[in-house]
Amino acid sequence: SGVSRHRVAVIAGDGIGQEVMPAAIDCLDLVAGLHGLDLDWHHLDWGSDHYRAHGRMLPVDGLDILAEHDAIFLGAVGVPDIPDVETLWGLLIPIRRRFEQYVNLRPVRTLPGVRPPLADSGPIDLVVVRENNEGEYSEIGGRMYRGLPEEFAVQEAVFTRRGVERVARYAARLAASRGGRLTSATKSNGIVHTMPFWDEVVREALADFPEVELRSELIDALAASLVLHPARYDVIVASNLFGDILSDLAGAITGSIGVAPSANLNPEGRHPSMFEPVHGSAPDIAGQGVANPVGQIWSGAMMLDALGHPAAAAHLVAAFEAALAGGTRTRDLGGRASTTAFTEAVRGHVEDLA
Ligand code: NAI
Ligand code: MG
Repeated sequence: SGVSRHRVAVIAGDGIGQEVMPAAIDCLDLVAGLHGLDLDWHHLDWGSDHYRAHGRMLPVDGLDILAEHDAIFLGAVGVPDIPDVETLWGLLIPIRRRFEQYVNLRPVRTLPGVRPPLADSGPIDLVVVRENNEGEYSEIGGRMYRGLPEEFAVQEAVFTRRGVERVARYAARLAASRGGRLTSATKSNGIVHTMPFWDEVVREALADFPEVELRSELIDALAASLVLHPARYDVIVASNLFGDILSDLAGAITGSIGVAPSANLNPEGRHPSMFEPVHGSAPDIAGQGVANPVGQIWSGAMMLDALGHPAAAAHLVAAFEAALAGGTRTRDLGGRASTTAFTEAVRGHVEDLA
């Protein structure tokens, strides 16, 4: 009695996904046990090996299999010998769209022992809310006259009232629960149809949140300002493309790609949400046992939070922060700890903080 059980689909995927996933699961199992949770992991060997054997990243009924789960925990996909467009559009994008994971949430925070590349940036603590289902990443368009001098390509961005409104409302609720400041990334001076529409719908949605202060900033100026004054930002809401770029930029100014987490959320909980580190499969270091598992572990903490266990999530975050503060660091952070040594340090802190 009192044990809360969750069925989690696990796709470790390629490269260091195979190293950071077991590390994160070890930490999550420990913290789950201490909080009366039972995480029932369902390992799926989908990804590039599956593609080589069957010509697809996941089985024909793969999305139906995922639908039976409470959450999806993903490592990374991508290998040098398969085009990234296959791995991305064959797995990640179908999951994000089928399960209406319209919010891509990326917390960006300075961590102990992670030195930002820019001097004097001050403590950074912000969240990028990226629209994850529509916008610039559309399949509408085409190419004609291939190989001829007249060749051209057209790709149409798609912004819907429903799509913009729901991500704006999510971001506003998040801002209300944090510092109360919301920045909307726009480019309404250059992109004259979709971006003024984005601005209008965001502004209308914010009418229900008088406690949130909304600022619209042009994406180019916002990118520069994020480098110069990152501490000014709290929650940033952006379209699919702008949010993709801004969240990598924001992640980079805090120190290492290896620590950045993300969640692809279906906020209504009608479908499973998906949790994955921001980094990819890192073929340059795969198999060496040196990958930083923090991005995967932190993504796991976001999963606990989304499954309704904020105390367990905070416990796990405090444990990896304590490990970093104690000086245990992987190579990307200038340390010498292996993936497993760092993971053991986190597990030790999970027990100490219990
Ligand atoms: P990447 O994130 O895999 O690696 C970039 C650099 O950061 C590399 O030098 C790598 O060693 C380092 N790095 C990344 N994660 C690290 C970690 N946890 N610990 C220590 N160092 C780490 O990006 P890259 O090289 O552009 O892409 C490699 C493959 O991953 C490609 O096939 C790409 O498509 C795929 N990819 C997949 C993503 C996903 O599954 N969502 C996201 C980004 C890339
Ligand atoms: Mg990206």
